Amino acid sequence: MARTALLNVMVNAALKAGRGLARDFGEVENLQVSVKGPGDFVSAADKRAEEVIIGELAKARPTYSVLAEESGTTEGSDTSHRWIIDPLDGTTNFLHGIPLFAISIGLEREGVMVAGVIYNPIMNELFVAERGAGAFLNDRRLRAARRSDPTTFVIGTGMPQLHRPGQDEYLGELRAVIRNVAAVRRLGSAATDLAWTAAGRYDGYWQHMVSPWDVAAGIVIAREAGVIVTDASGGDTMLDGGGVVAGNETVHRQLLGFLSEPS
Ligand code: IPD
Ligand code: CA
Ligand code: CA
Repeated sequence: MARTALLNVMVNAALKAGRGLARDFGEVENLQVSVKGPGDFVSAADKRAEEVIIGELAKARPTYSVLAEESGTTEGSDTSHRWIIDPLDGTTNFLHGIPLFAISIGLEREGVMVAGVIYNPIMNELFVAERGAGAFLNDRRLRAARRSDPTTFVIGTGMPQLHRPGQDEYLGELRAVIRNVAAVRRLGSAATDLAWTAAGRYDGYWQHMVSPWDVAAGIVIAREAGVIVTDASGGDTMLDGGGVVAGNETVHRQLLGFLSEPS
């Protein structure tokens, strides 16, 4: 697959930051056993990765605006283009030595997600997509799962963490989903959840209260693989706190149905 200049810029930024994160992840394993634990080290690794990504992107597209998890909003002279960046999605996994985390870089143009890169440097899995040009995993074209019988579905989800609101409502939804599908999985990286739905590993995925950097790249990757991605009400507010529901047309419809079942 020949990549466009735009995707090359995004991929190079993700690979460079990924090399740093992979090195730092090796270090986390040593720090696990220390009294203080790896907390401060991980937040420094996170910030370093973000600096690398923003630096690389700015070299190629100096005028674009940026929304990044650690440094927030930086308005460029070009406000119609915005990078949306999560330098380390799956921080809790990283902190615990669980090798499931990703770098997520999305590009929004005039309010529409047009390109996305999600990279897991430990599994060496690079998911890329550009609007209208398909989604790929390490150069292999991705397609959404085709299953339509809910008893065969594997559904990904993310749950509200400690001190977050909505736990009881979420448990009601989980109850409705587990009584209808084959299995539910919870990875701890929303970007990876969407990438895996694009790859057909998951039939569908839902989560409330995601931040824009968790899902920006994943939205375009999943859509380019034929996945329907909406917010939790079937609308388009995924980047504005509306949550995410994803799956092929049948799965998406059924998931929305399960989520509205009385618990
Ligand atoms: C988190 C992960 C997790 C999701 C949380 C996110 P972080 O991002 O994506 O899967 O459940 O809502 O905040 O903090 O690891 O970048
Ligand atoms: Ca995140
Ligand atoms: Ca993060």
